[in-house]
Amino acid sequence: MQTKTLAKPPAETTILVTGGAGFIGSHTVVELLNAGYRVVVLDDLSNSNEESLNRVRQICGLSAEDSEADRLQFVEASILDETALERMFAQHDIDGIIHFAGFKAVGESVEKPLEYYWNNVGGTLVLADVARRHGVKSIVFSSSATVYGDPDEVPITEMAEKHEATNPYGQTKSMLERILSDLYVGDPEWNVVLLRYFNPIGAHESGLIGEDPKGIPNNLLPYVAQVAVGKLPEVGVFGDDYPTPDGTGVRDYIHVVDLARGHVAALDWMAGRVGTGEASDPYSMTGEPAADGSRRGVGVFNLGTGCGSSVLDVIHAFERACGKTIPYAVKPRRAGDIAENYAACDKARTELGWEAQFDLDRMCADSWRWQSTNPNGYAS
Ligand code: WQD
Repeated sequence: MQTKTLAKPPAETTILVTGGAGFIGSHTVVELLNAGYRVVVLDDLSNSNEESLNRVRQICGLSAEDSEADRLQFVEASILDETALERMFAQHDIDGIIHFAGFKAVGESVEKPLEYYWNNVGGTLVLADVARRHGVKSIVFSSSATVYGDPDEVPITEMAEKHEATNPYGQTKSMLERILSDLYVGDPEWNVVLLRYFNPIGAHESGLIGEDPKGIPNNLLPYVAQVAVGKLPEVGVFGDDYPTPDGTGVRDYIHVVDLARGHVAALDWMAGRVGTGEASDPYSMTGEPAADGSRRGVGVFNLGTGCGSSVLDVIHAFERACGKTIPYAVKPRRAGDIAENYAACDKARTELGWEAQFDLDRMCADSWRWQSTNPNGYAS
């Protein structure tokens, strides 16, 4: 089977988005459709809702009757289901993959390591094996700044040492970076991009799609949003004695639409349309481009804003967005938390031609519009 290429017009290119009904996935599907790609979403809906894809169609003007409606197809299946994957690759002429599907709750991963390694690592192995059979060897992987662990210094560059992850969720990200890199070492036809996300928050400006965590949110922003909309009484601030300006944890929050656009830029890089392809860190490897100019190798990029914001910064920004006081109480530190991390973003800017556009106030304003118009997420 000849290896598929991304070096062709997006309108002639079909991208498989695993986990595409989820928070980051659905926003990325919007940007892919806006860029002209054809999209197949594979999602087991274990932590997402198919309604998000109906909203994506609404945002992109893909009504059911529209001749373009088939530009977005949905397959409900797990990445562990080899038969379903085989059927999907046989039915759809997939050219490349953006791989989000995976369990992602840090605390839950400590309680359920077997489920996390089985689903996240085992599922990715099944996906890569079936993809390879169909000549699909271009994959963008949803990695995370968590692979850096507690950084030696900030801002964190792609050159930074990857410290031991403090939980199975983080371990699966580190392992999968290694596994996907080794696919290229074993077969130079592979084309891999590892995107290390910092803290994705916010929502599409339409308010139609956004973050819809099941149960009590683990992450700060959806928790704050649920306090603002009256579903939770107050925010627990996990520690105010960190060595940071106001004592609370500092993170690099990035608008989910900026993050989504980073994935479209990664496809352009893999197609050879942007960047020099030079490896500039110990984890990237770039080989000879293919005859059509598309890249072969492993590209590693931080996707962040380069700005650190504290927990209190986020709470106050959200107060400005919603026009209400957000009650909070300082609690003990959360096990496994680090004091501070934010990204160095030069590599994505120079190689991908991408940089984040939106600031914390815009992130909170968009998040509030989503939360206030969808107080129960997609359930309503
Ligand atoms: C942010 C800050 C907390 C909740 C994790 C994963 C990362 C990515 C995003 C999944 C910290 C503080 C939080 C709360 C609080 N993965 N906080 N009260 O831990 O930086 O990153 O989620 O998508 O890979 O590691 O994100 O939002 O949980 O915490 O004070 O109720 O907010 O201590 O300083 P984190 P977070």
